Formats: sequence, C-alpha cells, structure tokens
Amino acid sequence: MRVEATTAAALAAPGADTVACGVFEREPVAHDTADGALAQLLDSGEARGRLGHVAVAHAAQRRVILVGLGERERFEPERARTAAGAVAQRARELGTRCLCWEAPHHVGEREIAGLVEGTLLAAYRFERFRPGSGQDAEPELERLLVSAHHDVAATLARAELLARAQNRARDLANTPANVLTPSALARYAEQAASEHDGLRATVLAEEQLRELGMGAFAAVAQGARESARLIRLDYEGPGADPALPPLGLLGKAVTFDSGGISLKQPARMHEMKFDMAGGAAVIEAIRALAELRVPLRVLGVVGATENMPGGGATHPGDIVTALDGTTIEINNTDAEGRLVLADCLCYAIREGARPLVDLATLTGGVVVALGSVHSGLMSNDDELAERVLEAGRASGELAWRLPLHERYAELLDGTYAQIVNSPERREATAIAGAEFLHRFAGEVPWAHLDIAGTAYDAERPYLRGKGATGVGVRLLVELASALAG
Ligand code: BES
Ligand code: MN
Ligand code: ZN
Repeated sequence: MRVEATTAAALAAPGADTVACGVFEREPVAHDTADGALAQLLDSGEARGRLGHVAVAHAAQRRVILVGLGERERFEPERARTAAGAVAQRARELGTRCLCWEAPHHVGEREIAGLVEGTLLAAYRFERFRPGSGQDAEPELERLLVSAHHDVAATLARAELLARAQNRARDLANTPANVLTPSALARYAEQAASEHDGLRATVLAEEQLRELGMGAFAAVAQGARESARLIRLDYEGPGADPALPPLGLLGKAVTFDSGGISLKQPARMHEMKFDMAGGAAVIEAIRALAELRVPLRVLGVVGATENMPGGGATHPGDIVTALDGTTIEINNTDAEGRLVLADCLCYAIREGARPLVDLATLTGGVVVALGSVHSGLMSNDDELAERVLEAGRASGELAWRLPLHERYAELLDGTYAQIVNSPERREATAIAGAEFLHRFAGEVPWAHLDIAGTAYDAERPYLRGKGATGVGVRLLVELASALAG
C-alpha cells in the first residue's frame, strides 16, 4: 500500500474510489456532497458519531464511509486507530483500491498518524502460507491518501514506517517454528542490518555462547536439534554522543517453547511459536530507529533458541552457571525465558549498555493479571519506569507497573544452587520472573516488559483478533526517541 498526503478536498481527491470521513458526536459532517447525502445519512441515524460506527453512502461517483469518532474531547491516537481500523475493514469488503481519508479538522498530528497506523495495521494479513485463491481472493488496498488543509507528508511517513515495522514483527512472530528457526531469525537480522546505514549485526553461534560462559542460555538450547543464536545489533545514529553508553534493548526469542522436559499441556502448545515476539519487536524497533535516523546508540541483544525435550535436554534439577557466575538450579525447564535473558542481561552489561529494557513473553501470570490490554512493567528504576509508561501512553502500547520487592526475590532462594529458576510457591509468577532477571540486572537501570498477554490474539479493533500483534515496536521507538532528546 502506498501512503500519500494530499491537500485536495477528500471528496474530490483524484483516483480515490472510496472516501472516509469521520464524524464526532453531536457535530455535523465537515464537508458534504452537493446533494447533502452525508448529512442525510447522519440525520437518519444510519451514520453515527459513536466510535467505530460505520455507514456507507454512494455520492460524487465514489463510496463514502462515514465513521464515528466519538466525543471530540476524548479523541486521541488510539481512537483514531480504532476508527481507521473499522474503515479499513469495510473498505476491504467494498473492494476499495484507493482510499482517501479526510483528516478531521482541528485534530493533532498524532491523531492523523493514528489514522495511518490503524489503516496499515488493519490491512495486514499473514498469507505467506495461504497463496491467493484466484477469484475469491480479497482485493487489496493499494493506496491510502490523507487529505488535510496543511502538509501532513512528514507525519504520514513516520506513521507508515512505524506500522510497517510493526507488521514485519507480526510476520516474524506468525511464522511457524519450523520455518523461523533461531538461525533463520539471525539471518533475517543480518539481512536487515545490511540494508541500513549505522546498523550492524553480529551473530554468536551456540558453541560460542557456551564458550563465553552463558550456561543458562545454553541449558535451554541443548535439548533442541536446531542450534541457538545470540543476535547482537549495534546501531549508531547520526550525531549520537559517543561518550554516552548505548541503550540496551533485549528480547526473548524462543522460537518454540515446548516447555522442555517440563513439557507443556498440548491444548495450546502451538501458540508457543509466538514465544519469540519480544526478540522480533527488538529487531524491528532497532531497524525502525535506523530508518528514522534517530540520534542515539543502541545495543540490541536477542536470545534465539528453541526449548525442546530432546535426549540432550536439561533435566529438572540440573545446576548451571550463568555468564556472571551465578549458579541456577533449573527445577522447571519451562521457565526458560529468564534463563536466556539472564545471560543476555549479563552480556549487555558487560558491553556497557544502559539503561536496559527487555521484552519477553515471560509468564502466564501476567496474562491473568493484566490480560491483553497492558503489558506488565517491572523496573528497578522509577525514572526509567516512568519513561516506559509514558512511551506506552504515547504509542498506545500500554504498560502497567507491578512491584518488585526483596520478599518476592526471596522466592527464588535456592537449596542446591544460589537460585532456582522457578519458585516452589506458584504465586506472583510475573513478579518472580522479573525478580529473577533483576538479579542479573543488579543496580543497572533496567525495565522488563512482560508481553505474554499482549503479543498475540489481543483484541484491538485494528488488529482483527488472531495472531501476532507486533507489540513493543512502537513503544520502543517512542522510548528511544524520547531518550535521544
Ligand atoms: N513462554 C511461557 C510464558 C507464556 C505463557 C507466554 C502463556 C505466552 C502465553 C514461559 O516460558 C513459561 O512457560 N512460563 C511459565 C513459568 C513458570 C514455569 C515459572 C509460566 O508462566 O507458567
Ligand atoms: Mn516456558
Ligand atoms: Zn517461554
């Protein structure tokens, strides 16, 4: 889909076969057709101001989709995404090829960006393994025009770039584990890095990370036939201060989590192809930062492995040593994400990155606590936590902070080793998981986002239910941009 700005009136935009106009509650339509068809539709009650309500008129030789935007005072970017998602869905049903959105009057650039993001995210399909079934295939939206009185080209370009990055992260996460192996993800990252100035990828093979002393990461990898990779991304933005430490972005990329010897129940095990969503978000966020030429330095560390119950797999009860020398009793091989991230954290700290932000589908507990609306945020630094929450609000990828406390950390005290990876007491599991990571972050400012509930099958009007959401890409770009000043 091409995205273009126009200052032509939406109802007269050349090439558009469908026009989208928003209506606020208790407000008339902004521009009408000569015969007043839109006002009529609103008067009759067929079109309404209720957010996401859609009605269709045929006027001025085109289709007009009237969509409710809700109360003007409450209009914000997420509502713009919602309205745009509803329009994109109907436009697709109508066979639209070129859609022109009339930017509502007196709304900000962030809301206009929301319209573009909502459209691109709603138009996303994962069809790599469902080749178009000829005549039955839904036509695709080819062009999106946004009509505004002023020049919105720069706003559109940024929104398009972000939505495309998010959709690429969705592609990665939706791709099944037999195709997106750790080595395939590493090759993908190398290819992506080769396409951008200031971005470099370095890949450590499984033997290398074992030799380095990443005993926790290696313990997860050893039960699989596919070999693990540590993917390192170095981004150096133009004009970034070389004296400042790089921002560390870390991602869990377990390309399939069977649970290992502590095998998961079969019912929803297939969903564990999404267990690399954190790593996907980190890769695509860093690529987006490179595309935007954001002036800062970033160190990306993505731990990519399968968690499988092969003959060489870690036995529950095995004791391993992480990169920083901490001994860990692996009493549950299904608490594998924290093992991978523990070594990634040690590595990022050793490389001098700070602050650190990790993204991981870490616990089922966070799904119980926060569902698919907020990601769980846990941090040892109030200022960083506030910045992450703010980036969440600004991007619409919401986070909610849960507490850390040494009494939670005590749940991890080990009997046979310094710590266990899975506390005996099954309570506060999202926080216990974070406290495990906290041991390795130590005093370095660090924030952990548990995205187990938000990474896939999250109900958003513009994400259409099933599949990966690409959560984290927009939040991380927002955060990094804010940190760059
Ligand atoms: N990948 C899972 C967490 C998960 C659960 C992600 C549901 C998405 C949806 C993680 O590796 C896991 O298995 N966590 C365990 C940890 C427990 C054994 C301490 C959990 O949360 O049950
Ligand atoms: Mn697991
Ligand atoms: Zn997992």
